[in-house]
Amino acid sequence: MCGIVGYLGDGNTYEVLIKGLHRLEYRGYDSAGIALVDTKGKLHVYKSKGKVENLENMCSGKDLEATAGIAHTRWATHGEPSDNNAHPHYSEDGNLALVHNGTIENYKVLKDALVKHGCKFHSETDTEVLVQLIEYIRLGNNCSLVEAVQEALKQVEGAYAIAVLEKDKPDTIIAARKSSPLVIGIGENEMFLASDASPFVEYTSNAVYLKDGEIAILKKGEPLKIIDLDNNNSKVDVTKLKMSISELEKGGYPHFMLKEIFEQPNTLRESIRGRVVDGGKRIIINGVRDNKETFVNARRIVFVACGTSWHAAMVGKYLFQDICDIPVVVEYASEFRYSNPVLGPGDIVIALSQSGETADTLAAVKIAREKGAFVFGVCNAVGSSIPRETHSGAYIHVGPEIGVASTKAFTGQVMVLTLIALSVAHLKGTLPEEEIARIGKALLDIPEKVEKVLKLNDKIERLSAIYTYAHNFLYLGRGCNFPTALEGALKLKEISYIHAEGYPAAEMKHGPIALIDEEMPSVIIAPKDHLYDKIVSNVQQVKARGGSIVAIVTEGDTVIKNLANHVLEIPEVPECLSPIVASVPLQLLAYYIAINKGKDVDMPRNLAKSVTVE
Ligand code: F6R
Repeated sequence: MCGIVGYLGDGNTYEVLIKGLHRLEYRGYDSAGIALVDTKGKLHVYKSKGKVENLENMCSGKDLEATAGIAHTRWATHGEPSDNNAHPHYSEDGNLALVHNGTIENYKVLKDALVKHGCKFHSETDTEVLVQLIEYIRLGNNCSLVEAVQEALKQVEGAYAIAVLEKDKPDTIIAARKSSPLVIGIGENEMFLASDASPFVEYTSNAVYLKDGEIAILKKGEPLKIIDLDNNNSKVDVTKLKMSISELEKGGYPHFMLKEIFEQPNTLRESIRGRVVDGGKRIIINGVRDNKETFVNARRIVFVACGTSWHAAMVGKYLFQDICDIPVVVEYASEFRYSNPVLGPGDIVIALSQSGETADTLAAVKIAREKGAFVFGVCNAVGSSIPRETHSGAYIHVGPEIGVASTKAFTGQVMVLTLIALSVAHLKGTLPEEEIARIGKALLDIPEKVEKVLKLNDKIERLSAIYTYAHNFLYLGRGCNFPTALEGALKLKEISYIHAEGYPAAEMKHGPIALIDEEMPSVIIAPKDHLYDKIVSNVQQVKARGGSIVAIVTEGDTVIKNLANHVLEIPEVPECLSPIVASVPLQLLAYYIAINKGKDVDMPRNLAKSVTVE
């Protein structure tokens, strides 16, 4: 939520910042702003409500000369989306400009105190208090900007990644983080900072991930310096980025979401690369192998996650219970963190997060560690906060996901959870070796099966036209495809703004069945699995009440074909892998319905990727 970017160097500061903002726009698009300093000691701040392109329009013809600059794209928390509330915020004397990602929890107390001292505020944001406080301390103590930042951050409660620019210091940017991501890029005669590495990947592959409590001093002609709030020096740990620019572009697709849906055969290949060997007979997950005893002796697995990742965790529950004989609970990270979770040695907490930065999931990880659980991360963004806070983990390796609606991350998460469950089942001996080999072999075939599912694209596009104007949808599934139903409903809701509910198919008759009529379509995930006969009855129950049915069925199904209004056939796969192939047509259905409604699928209203606030 909110993206920040900064640049210091000989390049075109404005261009670097604007391009960087576009790359970070997935983090919020309520407003955008930029602050530039030049060698004449001028600080220009331009900001505008709405997307980055509005800011570009407003900047055209303006003085954009600069040696350093900071910029921001906002997802509003405190104060409505408006020009006034847009970042950068500046100190009343116009000396400092600041951008911020995070939430300042005690801003009201700090603001009241500053107002008493005569400070005037111009926005409704929590952020403005930071810049006013820093400048108040700098002037009052007659100290340097770095000292003022250190002192101010000691008074602040909450989460922040900030960058500060001073009018008379066109060669310096000060940045700091606590619980919100910040990464510094080190190039030739130039430095960058950003919420993730995407804004500077084409300029340098040298990245330094700032840790909580650290302050970075970016100064022209000097090496990057990192200190803490008490002035102790920290090590500058340079990581080589593996990201490529093509991963950050649409590659000919009209939207990132569609590109990411179609990338899935390849991203699934990446998720299994080097992990499924001997034709599927052996599964190697280093994090499991290195913690063999912990997994073998686990008394319970607790998943913590949010949103789509929570749905993947729900699939994980079925997997671990079925094939590893381990009791599993799945918790919303936001509930878990405030629920006094009873945890201890013997418990494994698995945190799932595409971004690796979701504030609630990160907090849950910290609590689980404090309580003595073994914490394992399943994340996508390499180097993000959650993998750095967990004891061990496995990346899903699906590459940057930019479309706000998660697609390839979901299938990658389910894939990696399957790999983990199979390797634990092997260690525990809870699944016969032949069965592991059968599923292992099927895993290797999954990318091709997904390629086949993607051939349904045109059919789904046509089908979407029939359902575009429905006001409500029910998504039904059973067993490990109950989470697939939840995920399908979430995809539709978030990008088309149609109300959709995911439900266990048999639970429907305990309430939601009352909603069914000819205007309420049901999407039923009904592959040939051990609950097939049961779900056929559920399909009949919907049909008997006049509801129209779109069913996801296994190729060659004839029974449901005769009952449903439309069927989408998916290839046969072992039951535990069916959520991967069944979720793809649901992603496409949501995509085309949203397109038919003229919605901005990559930037749905009110949403942002990477939810770094509570
Ligand atoms: C939905 C979606 C969100 C995220 C959720 C968790 O399409 O993207 O529901 O799944 O915000 O994000 P991560 O996985 O980054 O922790």
